[in-house]
Amino acid sequence: MKLYLDTANVEEIRQAADWGVISGVTTNPSLAAKEDDDFTKILPSICELVNGPVSAEVIALDHEGMIKEARKLAGIHKHVVVKIPITPDGMQAVKTLSSEGIKVNVTLIFSANQALLAARAGAAYVSPFLGRLDDIGHTGVALVRDIVDIIDLHELNTEVIAASIRHTEHVPAVALAGAHIATMPFKVLKQMFKHPLTDLGIESFINDWKKADKSFK
Ligand code: E4P
Repeated sequence: MKLYLDTANVEEIRQAADWGVISGVTTNPSLAAKEDDDFTKILPSICELVNGPVSAEVIALDHEGMIKEARKLAGIHKHVVVKIPITPDGMQAVKTLSSEGIKVNVTLIFSANQALLAARAGAAYVSPFLGRLDDIGHTGVALVRDIVDIIDLHELNTEVIAASIRHTEHVPAVALAGAHIATMPFKVLKQMFKHPLTDLGIESFINDWKKADKSFK
C-alpha cells in the first residue's frame, strides 16, 4: 500500500517528500482554502515536489463545467489527477475525461455501489472516506475492504484510495483490507514514526556508547 499526503500545504509536502515515504498527494477545496496562495499557483509547486499523482478537485457541478475545469487542471502538470464527486454528472465527465487519457479520482465515496459506478465510468481511483463514515457510527474500514474485494473479483482497473484517515490505527487496518493507497494528514504521517520503545532504545544506545567513551574511528 502506497502512502499519500492529504494536504495542500507545500511545506508539509516538502518535508514528507524529503523523508522519501510518500508516493502522491490528495487535496480538496477545503484543504486548498486553508492556504494563503491561490491554488492554481500552489499546484505546480506541489507537483514538482512529488514524484507521483496529485489530486486536484473540480468545483463545477455540471458535467460540461467539470470537463472544462478538469482539462485546465490536467494541463497544469503531468502529475495532476482530477478529482470529481460521485454524481451522475460527475460520471458523465469521468467517461469523457478517461477517454482523453485524463486520470480521475472519484471522491466522496460512501458505499460500494458508488465505487462500482465510478469504476465502470472509467475512474482510475476511487476514494472511500472512512473517517467520515466512522463519525456517523459506521465502520469505514469494512467499506474499504468491500470495495477492494469487488474490484479484485471483477478485475476492474481502478485503485482504492482509503481517504479521510483520522489516526494511525486506520493505516494498518486499511493496508490489511487491501487498499492500494492510504491518504492521510501530515499529523498522522508523523505519528506513524512514533513508538515509546524506539525513543527509549535510541536513548539507551547513545548513553551506553557515551559511558564506554567510544568514538567512530
Ligand atoms: C481525500 O481525498 C479527502 O481530501 C480527505 O481525505 C477528506 O478527509 P476529511 O474527512 O478528514 O476531511
